[in-house]
Amino acid sequence: MLIRSEIIGWGHYLPQKVVTNDDLAKIVETSDEWISTRTGIKTRHIVENETTSDLITKACEMAMKRANIQPEDIDLIVVASITPDNTTPSVATKVSNRLGLKYGAIAFDISAACSGFVYGLSMADNMIRLGQVKTALVVGSESLSKIVDWTDRNTCVLFGDGAGAVVIKATEGEGTKADTGILATKLYADGSHYDNLKTTGGVSTTQTPGFITMDGKEVFKFAVNSLSQAAEEVMKMCGVSSDEIKFLIPHQANIRIISNVGEKLGLPTEKVIVTVDHHGNTSAASIPLALSENIESGRIKKGDLLVLTAMGAGFTWGGALVRF
Ligand code: ACO
Repeated sequence: MLIRSEIIGWGHYLPQKVVTNDDLAKIVETSDEWISTRTGIKTRHIVENETTSDLITKACEMAMKRANIQPEDIDLIVVASITPDNTTPSVATKVSNRLGLKYGAIAFDISAACSGFVYGLSMADNMIRLGQVKTALVVGSESLSKIVDWTDRNTCVLFGDGAGAVVIKATEGEGTKADTGILATKLYADGSHYDNLKTTGGVSTTQTPGFITMDGKEVFKFAVNSLSQAAEEVMKMCGVSSDEIKFLIPHQANIRIISNVGEKLGLPTEKVIVTVDHHGNTSAASIPLALSENIESGRIKKGDLLVLTAMGAGFTWGGALVRF
């Protein structure tokens, strides 16, 4: 017998305002044609009168409802975000209070950019396996529109806002790949790429959050290799072949990155989940948003074997193999 973390609830939330490529063409020199062919993005949601904690609260409420659990059942909330409400305390503590989680429930944020959700899932899974907690909320949420330079066409067309969450709960497994739950996770980082994708400021340097800047070509190359590597590694850890995978849920940065990764893994397009067309790149929120949306639509079903893979600023990257 082995303790596994099973996904028992899922939720997502997108702000109401939808911005099209044509809308962006009115503020910077770009076109629907350029954005669509280079990135696959058509629309993205942008916050207006909401903050990251508002997005998280709504996604968590949906996830707890799907899990059919009460706030007092939750022992831990982990939020992956680079756009929290305040520099301190963590946005996880704010949401914990708002959701009415019990006294003493653990709450903290993770800063691992677009890999944040996979990092958070791995940490929560390890805490469950060690018996430190039984039930956890794992969330990815961003208001990236707040740190985008809306005069820079190189970056402002890429990003969107949103939140996704899962509830994971301790369950007993046999220790085989037939188990339900998180079967393997693997995390990586390489800080020599610190400057390839970053904000122009920060608390201890400029006392402002700064705007996102990046070396698009370097990010592109690294993303294809690292996303494939992390997916292959978690599959190898469990002796799983591509044929056994029902869906790949890659970080949603760019359709060309996603297609390259699918091809490298030998997966047909129908096995690759794509939401970048209507979400844009929502960083830490992209995987839980895609997961929740596709469970909710009925495309992902109980028992499906999923491989999650993410890469982001740092660079950080990682994967998870999950039987839903
Ligand atoms: N509209 C029109 N033209 C544009 C735009 C735009 N929005 N943005 C850039 N251009 C121009 C550039 O200025 C350049 O013009 P120039 O040749 O006159 O200098 C031209 O388009 C071509 O630029 P390239 O950099 O060669 O375009 P490329 O094909 O590399 O595509 C892109 C750029 C889409 C950013 C690509 O490099 C990419 O997808 N990189 C990955 C970056 C990414 O997804 N980052 C997200 C965060 S990281 C993550 O989530 C993993």
